[in-house]
Amino acid sequence: MTQNTSAEPVVAIVVAAGSGVRLGGEVPKAVRVLAGRPLVSWSVEALAAGGVTEVVVVVGDGLQDMFTDALADSPIPWRLVVGGATRQESVARGIAALPDGDVVLVHDAARPLVPVDVVRGVIEAVRAGASAVIPVVGVSDTIRQVAGAGSVVVDRSGLRAVQTPQGFARDALVTAHAAANGRDFTDDAAVCEACGYEVVLVPGSREALKITEPHDLAVAEAIVKDRR
Ligand code: CTP
Ligand code: MG
Repeated sequence: MTQNTSAEPVVAIVVAAGSGVRLGGEVPKAVRVLAGRPLVSWSVEALAAGGVTEVVVVVGDGLQDMFTDALADSPIPWRLVVGGATRQESVARGIAALPDGDVVLVHDAARPLVPVDVVRGVIEAVRAGASAVIPVVGVSDTIRQVAGAGSVVVDRSGLRAVQTPQGFARDALVTAHAAANGRDFTDDAAVCEACGYEVVLVPGSREALKITEPHDLAVAEAIVKDRR
């Protein structure tokens, strides 16, 4: 179900141009199959369910036909652009191809099961005036900082793991990416922060896990089964 409570478009960049070295396999990670469908198709559907109205999917060069097939059942319009050598470069190429819309989400194709509430929460926070919004979850493992030969426990109560989709006021994302000018950042919120924009945190979800290693695909299969 596609839901967009306001008439304003909400556009998204789905980065899918990585090769998925850690996952392995014969095809790029974004077209690996989860419960019968490619990851990228799950990701686009999850964004659409939360209110995204159109997507730019950033893919590896020469893989346009593969992604065209993978997106055949998309509930919203999509366009493909070729990505770059790093995630940040792939996002920049997506920005250059964005359709109209003042709210822009940037999402990893590798997070196929992000719940609708997380997508809605990100969009709402941007609509409420935030320049940059990130969904986060607490850290459940005990964390140690290794220092020289020893190590110390870090207080994890103040730590958060950052997920996607991240949400942006279009001007902030465009301005910050242009200002990054080759400098490398860990995510798009950090790109905005370096440009002086405040980053707002909203609740993420364990179900928005990133498919990184084969184990993650098994967890995702279990989540889909549980939802059904
Ligand atoms: N990505 C991208 N362009 C790149 C690198 C990454 O669009 N040059 C995308 C991936 O397709 C993925 C997201 O960024 O959806 C998060 O990256 P990651 O999980 O690291 O995916 P890969 O880079 O594909 O995996 P790996 O690092 O194991 O090769
Ligand atoms: Mg990578």
